[in-house]
Amino acid sequence: GIKIVTIGGGSSYTPELVEGFIKRYDKLPVKELWLVDVPEGKEKLEIVGALAKRMVEDAGVPIDVHLSLDRREALPGADFVTTQIRVGQLDARAKDESIPLKYGVIGQETNGPGGLFKGLRTIPVILDICRDIEVLCPDAWLINFSNPAGMVTEAVLRHSNISKTVGLCNVPVGMRMGVAEMLDVDSDRVQIDFAGLNHMVYGLNVYLDGKNITENVLEQLVSGEGLTMKNIVDLGWEKDFIKGLGALPCPYHRYYYQTSKMLEAEQKDFAEKGSRAQVVQQLEKDLFELYKNPDLSVKPEQLEERGGAYYSDAACSLINSIYNDKRDIQPVNTRNNGAILGLPADSAVEVNCVITKDGPRPIAVGDLPVAVRGLIQQIKSFERVSAEAAVTGDYQKAMLAMTINPLVPSDSIAKAILDEMMEAHRDYLPQF
Ligand code: G6P
Ligand code: MN
Repeated sequence: GIKIVTIGGGSSYTPELVEGFIKRYDKLPVKELWLVDVPEGKEKLEIVGALAKRMVEDAGVPIDVHLSLDRREALPGADFVTTQIRVGQLDARAKDESIPLKYGVIGQETNGPGGLFKGLRTIPVILDICRDIEVLCPDAWLINFSNPAGMVTEAVLRHSNISKTVGLCNVPVGMRMGVAEMLDVDSDRVQIDFAGLNHMVYGLNVYLDGKNITENVLEQLVSGEGLTMKNIVDLGWEKDFIKGLGALPCPYHRYYYQTSKMLEAEQKDFAEKGSRAQVVQQLEKDLFELYKNPDLSVKPEQLEERGGAYYSDAACSLINSIYNDKRDIQPVNTRNNGAILGLPADSAVEVNCVITKDGPRPIAVGDLPVAVRGLIQQIKSFERVSAEAAVTGDYQKAMLAMTINPLVPSDSIAKAILDEMMEAHRDYLPQF
């Protein structure tokens, strides 16, 4: 049987994952599921863990759910380690979202200054986990959902000894489901050629039953719903821009192509209901209240109000295809290896891959269309420099990352935001 260790197991998202394993039990017989969290997260872990146990029991699948506050106890013998951590929890996210706003800059957990700081806090912890994996379960796959997932994968690939790693996100699944909904067809009839970076991925071509329908989809994108997720407002696209772009943008591209109107919408939202972190804090409170109910033994519907809804589809499909050597195509974050020209071979990219027992094999894209290449390259530079800053604690590298991010308008504003955020997050930045 398979042993899975989920670090950050007390997350409100865990019932998603458990449901995913239950649904696939026939093909993916998970014997042990270890949910691990830090001592501060004990209460949440116990609530989610109890729900997970009720879920497997109610479904009648023999998955043993274990809870632990010590990952070194859990890791030995693991086949897959999944990480879904939030260093500093939602309070830190609230700072990532609110401090940049004071300077007229987008405050977002994975983009701009917020993305940089989430990386600076998260990467050292993930690299510690990598060191434990090396010793305690060297054959395990590390599957990371912790954000910023692209930057974290970059750091693991370039700054750890772990090579069996994949970064995951629900955005590509969400885009495929969104297109299917737009066309009113079943989502398995839709295929998309994904290429780019995490939260910076494009659908270069969209197919329905194998027929290229990209133009048709772009047409509908501008005249109908613009495909988004629960955490990103949909303000509609300029028709001529989208047609000129010629590719399907992901929801996060709005921050780059609609910066001033997204900022305005964010400021308005912030004044009315606080940051997304605060909204999520309330959602989480409600979720944990539901989870406590001893009669609940399925994933509650309310979880779909979260931006990460359906992430278990990505996670469980990936694990299933590695375990069963399925050789199907899935978009994941992996080492580029030359698949996308113009990006470093040793960098993480989000791209369609054939998923084998030896991991993802990226499908060659070649040159990216010139329309999208520049932004992708700039964000990759930002991710690389940010990861280096996270590993070294080099202040000037952090300053460089902040300033070259396209959402930050000048070096002086970068410096002001950097210093305020360094101070605000001091407890979680031991490397600086
Ligand atoms: C998207 C992203 C995730 C992110 C989530 C935030 O789905 O792909 O990486 O964590 O949104 O959602 P939340 O409900 O926490 O705002
Ligand atoms: Mn994501």
